[in-house]
Amino acid sequence: MTGDTKRVQELIGRMSLSEKAAQMTQIPANLLTDEEAETWAVRGIGSFLHALGKRAEKLQKAARDSRLGIPVLFGIDAVRGHALKNGATVFPSPLAMACAWDREAMEAVGRATAAEVAADGLHWTFAPLLCMARDLRWGRVDETFGESPTLTGELAAAMIRGLQGEDLKDETAILACAKHFIAYAESTGGRDSADTPVSMRMIRETFLPPYKKAVDAGCATIMTAYLPIDGVPMTAHKELLTGVLKGELGFNGFVVTDWDNVGSLVARQQYSETLRDAALAAAIAGNDMFMSTPGAYEELIALVKEGRLSETVLDEAVKRILTVKFRLGLFDDKQKPKIVDMQAHQALNARIQQEAVVMLKNNGVLPLENKKLAVIGPSVDHIHAMLGDWTYMSHPSIRSSCEIEHQITPVTPRKGLERLAAGHGLTIRYEKGCGFLREEDPIAAPDVAGYPYLEKIIKPEFQNLDTGAVLSACEGADVLVACVGDFLGQTGEYRDRADLDLSGDQQALLELMKSTGKPLVVVLVSGKPLTVPWVRENADAAVQLFNGGQTAGLALARAVTGETNAFGKLPISFAHHAGQLPVYHNQLPGWHGRRYIDMPEEPLYAFGYGLSYTSYRYGAPRLEKENGGYALITEVQNAGEADGTEIVQLYAHRPAGQRMTPVKELIDFARVPLKAGESKEVRFPVDMESLKAVRDDGSRVLEKGTYTLMAGSSSRDEDLRKVTFTI
Ligand code: BGC
Repeated sequence: MTGDTKRVQELIGRMSLSEKAAQMTQIPANLLTDEEAETWAVRGIGSFLHALGKRAEKLQKAARDSRLGIPVLFGIDAVRGHALKNGATVFPSPLAMACAWDREAMEAVGRATAAEVAADGLHWTFAPLLCMARDLRWGRVDETFGESPTLTGELAAAMIRGLQGEDLKDETAILACAKHFIAYAESTGGRDSADTPVSMRMIRETFLPPYKKAVDAGCATIMTAYLPIDGVPMTAHKELLTGVLKGELGFNGFVVTDWDNVGSLVARQQYSETLRDAALAAAIAGNDMFMSTPGAYEELIALVKEGRLSETVLDEAVKRILTVKFRLGLFDDKQKPKIVDMQAHQALNARIQQEAVVMLKNNGVLPLENKKLAVIGPSVDHIHAMLGDWTYMSHPSIRSSCEIEHQITPVTPRKGLERLAAGHGLTIRYEKGCGFLREEDPIAAPDVAGYPYLEKIIKPEFQNLDTGAVLSACEGADVLVACVGDFLGQTGEYRDRADLDLSGDQQALLELMKSTGKPLVVVLVSGKPLTVPWVRENADAAVQLFNGGQTAGLALARAVTGETNAFGKLPISFAHHAGQLPVYHNQLPGWHGRRYIDMPEEPLYAFGYGLSYTSYRYGAPRLEKENGGYALITEVQNAGEADGTEIVQLYAHRPAGQRMTPVKELIDFARVPLKAGESKEVRFPVDMESLKAVRDDGSRVLEKGTYTLMAGSSSRDEDLRKVTFTI
């Protein structure tokens, strides 16, 4: 028995029933009065979320002074840096960061986030998100690392390593929370938490692998999702939470529910009759801590007293929670880091913001040099549209307890271009042109009723196309730059969309600009892929900027002026039309039509796609035997005139065995810096484990047959070169 295990057992032995129930409780401090919060702290609450600064310090003191003095865990949604805090580093959205395909940068982002969170006396972030976005209508696509189990798992594991550091006891280490277990993004029609048609075998084969990577990386906590699978809400899903997660994967941290998941079993999902039944179902299923259902505290106590729930279930949950608190060094007077190198974090942010810019098209109009530009569109100078969700701007209610001047002025695309203009001989004329919505569009406006603080932030801007102003701005220009996309009200939780076209008059704006006959560069600033076939067809160049960090506008300006060639690639496929979904790369092969009669089969832009100011040539891949399996070797040459970094991708197609397998699936990737003209051999050890199929009984086998490995620059067939082996 380790020292910590003994201390945990002794402590549990001294805890009353109500102290155990309190330990399993987590409440948002920003929704409590000071008095209420203090009562909970004294009662021995396990955790508060969304407390910052002095308030957190006061509550921690109250907890430490209480009967057993068990410290409270403070959690926060630091999903892209400690971004809910005004003054912290705001990194790009997870989807934007995924465009970099950069494990090393992601680990560094985790480190930077942890240092800033820890310096505030907080201990835990609800990140990373392991959902895979395969239905683009879902509101939370921006929070994902895209559509691939491999990319998601690799980036999530890197972020977890960064957040938790080498030892959780270190001053700058905080707890990570892999969420939302499991298949949350798969709900029907992209409608958040709706019925989710996946089988247990699909879960094991497709959705579990990123969680395995998270668990193997030592992730201390995991959050359950809202959705039901086969009619059983995840909150009550014992087979998945206890059987698969804690049993099969050997997860030894603790499970926290999502927001009011327990209450929702009654009020929304109509699965349990009463809150008592709901608390019983949740505890038995394997949820260790209940987020935001304060009433469940009394119910847990009553259930044990009534004899419906064994106190040993509470003991097991509390054991997991306390073990994590000991691992974190909370009982041993863990100190806060005194100095945080904010400048280093800004430099890291500049790097990942740059790598997050994706060039979709360029007929030679880029880079922009010595030109008169007309820069037009609702996204050009819109901070909320650029930053997107989960920042101090999108969640003002959370920061209220820590109002400090924010030190990093956001740089929008307009400000970024203006900053670099002189150095590149550019002059800039700016015009907004139209809003994100038309005056007659209220149905497309987000419902902010009941969220008074959101009104300012996601309030739709109804503004019809101002034809005169647009044409006059275009008049003296050599090149037109349109900046269009979506705004905060169209992306994030509660904001699923049926229509992914450019909203309002933005399409009309593009067509008006095109009608002038001048070269047109389209910059898409959006939370997620929009359906923009017109842009691919008609723009002279197109650049995608998913929700960026504080200075993403500068990264964009550096990219389009050719100051750097550090472009990223898409971690997600774009569709031509919302009705064409799904378009993700790792689908099963179809036949008998395969596609809608009025849509091509291919996505608008494929997973893994992205251009730069150079091009790369791939040699024929070859296999070498290695460690009882294979390594694939491919030669990559920078065939252009600019230095760059190629994101080399490895895909596999597996033989069917018992079940059909995806046409191809990403299994590995590497960032390879290459000077103009330079060649390198890239070696991928093939992880044979990842090629295994999951049988109905849950076992994993390497099926007999021919395996095809494909290496290249994107998931498109024309970008891949193949080699096979047989088992
Ligand atoms: C979200 C979680 C988040 C939690 C706490 C929920 O609504 O689904 O992702 O961590 O709120 O803010």
